[in-house]
Order: sequence, then structure tokens, then C-alpha cells
Amino acid sequence: MLKNQRAIEVSGLSFLFPDAEVKALRNINFSVDYGEILGIIGPTGAGKSTLAMCINGLVPQVIQGELEGKVYVKGLDVHKGNVAKMSEHVGFVFQEPENQLSQMTIEEEVAFGLGNLGVPREQMEGRIKEALQQVGLLGFEKRSPLALSGGQQQRLAIASVLAMKPTIMIMDEPTSMLDPKGKNEVYDVLRSLKEHGMTGIIIDHEVERIAEYCDKVLVLNEGEEQMFGPSAEVFAQIDTLHQLTMHAPQVTELLHQYNQKNKQDVKLSTSIEEAAAILENAYIKS
Ligand SMILES: Nc1ncnc2c1ncn2[C@@H]1O[C@H](COP(=O)(O)OP(=O)(O)O)[C@@H](O)[C@H]1O
Ligand SMILES: [Mg+2]
Repeated sequence: MLKNQRAIEVSGLSFLFPDAEVKALRNINFSVDYGEILGIIGPTGAGKSTLAMCINGLVPQVIQGELEGKVYVKGLDVHKGNVAKMSEHVGFVFQEPENQLSQMTIEEEVAFGLGNLGVPREQMEGRIKEALQQVGLLGFEKRSPLALSGGQQQRLAIASVLAMKPTIMIMDEPTSMLDPKGKNEVYDVLRSLKEHGMTGIIIDHEVERIAEYCDKVLVLNEGEEQMFGPSAEVFAQIDTLHQLTMHAPQVTELLHQYNQKNKQDVKLSTSIEEAAAILENAYIKS
């Protein structure tokens, strides 16, 4: 059964929705190691959400269509298992926080998923407290999820997933409906999860955040894989990103413009600190 040591391995993955004329995904290949965070970026309609749903088995088991290729999660063939089984390994956080919340209190909200998993009652309280602690909502147990801010609601949605102790967490545009404060709250949680070794996938349009939080980046466009590799390497391919109507983090764009205007070839870093040192060094030399 154990196919390999990787957390996620996708090979030759293609998917066609019923009645669609073109494939939503075409020959996608990438892998994610344990403890790594992968960022997926690409224009709307690129196939990001479809790809995420292929990794937890929702596609093709619930959302049907023609699928080719393989997806292994923790060495298990996702398309042979069932979705309920997969949800023990892969947790999913969606774009709209309210749509993921259904219970009267925060504590019941986190307990809900645990009940579905068949976690014994006596273990629930500890797991609920631990999950709320991880997202900074401890002490809010008796409040209504509806009384929370957008950022808090999304943190609650994350807690509900964390309580199920998945190995892999997938977040599909978790901050795109949030205000700047809410975005920061969610990314603070993500930083802490990353520090604790969480394996995950984040789909987000904000390349600054992706560059900061992700080890690797996959760029999708019209169902095709355009680039896959370490974040710094992907964001250094600025011309390719521009052709796809995308862009690199602003600091990387700045270094790129500097190179173009001054006929230089400084490294296209994604880090502000490194960029400052690069420019200072270039200035001294000139
Ligand atoms: N249920 C569906 N039935 C048919 N086509 C779909 C369905 N969901 C998505 N698509 C199509 O598949 C393509 C990829 O969509 P999606 O994965 O949602 O892209 P993204 O998340 O990158 O915006 C789009 O062309 C979209 O219209
Ligand atoms: Mg999407």
C-alpha cells in the first residue's frame, strides 16, 4: 500500500467535467513532502479548486467526470478510497467562513466534525480546547459562531478541521472574503501551524503571502501546470508570470525593474531584507 514517503504525489492528472468541452486539468504533476506548504496560484478558472478537490477525493467521487492520472496521499490511492476515509487525512477550509458553520455555539461547531468522525465523547473536550487554543479562540466556547468577525469565523473553521487531526490541510482562498485584519489573523494561525510542522496547500491570490508562507509554488493557467518549484525560483520567473497576467511579490518586481532600467542582473529575491542588502551592494559597486 505504501507507495512512497511523500505526503502528496500527483502524476499525470487530468479531469474533464461532464458536458465540458475542455479539460479543467491537464497532465498535472507535483508532490508535497511532509512539513511543506505548497502555494497554488493562477487566474480565476485556472483549475485551482478542482485540483484541491482531486486531492481529498471529492473529485471524482462526489463531483463526477472523466479522470486520468494518479493522486496519492500518504501513499494511499485517493481515487480508490472513499471521501469520508480521506477526510481523516485531509482537512479542507473554504473561502466563505459562514458556509462552513452550522452550530449554535463555537464548542458545538468544533464537536460537530468530531462526532461525524466517531471520536468518543470523553476525548472531545480535550480536542476542542486544543484546537481552539491553536487558533486563539480559547474562552469563546459558549459564544455563537454568528457573533464572530469574519477572521474569527475563518479561524473557527480552521479549528474545526484541526480538531480532526488531519495530516494535510488544504485551504482554498481562505482569506479572500476577509478584511485586512481578518487576513492577518488567518495568516498568523497559518504561521503557527507551519512552525508546528503542518503539511498543507494554500490557494491564494496574494503573492506576497504565498512567497512568505509557502515552500513551493505551483502555477496553474487554463488547467495547465505552468511552473512548479521552490517559491523563490518560481517568483524569479517574472516574464512568465507577466505573460500569464500574474505578478511576483512587489519587492521582486522592484528588483526586476531595477535590473531592466540599469542593465543589471541582481538576484530577484522575494525577501525585503535580502532585497535591501542586494540594492545596497549594487549601489556601493556603482
Ligand atoms: N461543477 C462544474 N461543472 C463544470 N465545469 C466546472 C465546474 N466547476 C468548475 N468548472 C470549470 O472548471 C474550470 C476550473 O474551475 P476552478 O477549479 O473552479 O478554477 P479556480 O479555482 O482556479 O478559479 C473552469 O473553467 C470552471 O468553469
Ligand atoms: Mg477556486
